[in-house]
Amino acid sequence: MPNLTPDELLTTTRAVRKRLDFERPVPHEVLRECVAVAMQAPTASNSQPWEFVVVTDPARKAAIAEWYLKSYDAYAADRVAAAGGALDPQTERMASSARYLADRFHEVPAMVIPCVHGRLDRRPPEGQAAGWGSIVQAGWSFCLAARARGLGTCWTTLHLTYEREVAEILGISYDDVTQSCLLTTGYYTGESFRPAPRDDIDARIHWDAW
Ligand SMILES: Cc1cc2nc3c(=O)[nH]c(=O)nc-3n(C[C@H](O)[C@H](O)[C@H](O)COP(=O)(O)O)c2cc1C
Repeated sequence: MPNLTPDELLTTTRAVRKRLDFERPVPHEVLRECVAVAMQAPTASNSQPWEFVVVTDPARKAAIAEWYLKSYDAYAADRVAAAGGALDPQTERMASSARYLADRFHEVPAMVIPCVHGRLDRRPPEGQAAGWGSIVQAGWSFCLAARARGLGTCWTTLHLTYEREVAEILGISYDDVTQSCLLTTGYYTGESFRPAPRDDIDARIHWDAW
């Protein structure tokens, strides 16, 4: 287990793809602990509208991975076309990492899908904000709790192109429940992660007015 200060945890929880240990299973008890931490997140009106679908069954993972890869292939082709055939070096690195994960998606040790009650796409804007604001904070808490236990996660959303099909695979009632994302989860290889390059904070912070 890494020994991290709160700021180290918050600044080094990266999208883990190439360093995911695909061979090592994650005990259900560890995943349960991470969900318990996630369920301490704040929610609109204290509604706690969440459900967490944790998938470790190989057949179901393989079925989900087929939809993910289909969506990823279309997304990757669009990106290259939009960039005029060639990506810049930083985007190219990210794309190579994302492709690696997409190709091995069926092998990830655990897929965790934080869901929220109701169909958020059928709500007015403030209802959508309440729903997304409630589930996203829980999802990120899951990622932080996982990292604190030596697990790597990657927040993914591309399977949502086929949300209905994935709902069917998992027995989720599509009309009553919105899937927010799919967190690929497994132990990571290597020791540490570094903070990522970011814009100058003074260019992005606005005191008192924009
Ligand atoms: C809303 C959201 C959607 C994302 N969707 C995907 C995805 O479908 N597939 C993927 O490989 N990564 C996905 N990512 C991961 C991002 O690519 C990653 O967080 C970003 O490149 C920064 O990398 P870092 O976290 O290592 O700094 C997503 C991240 C967020 C926040």
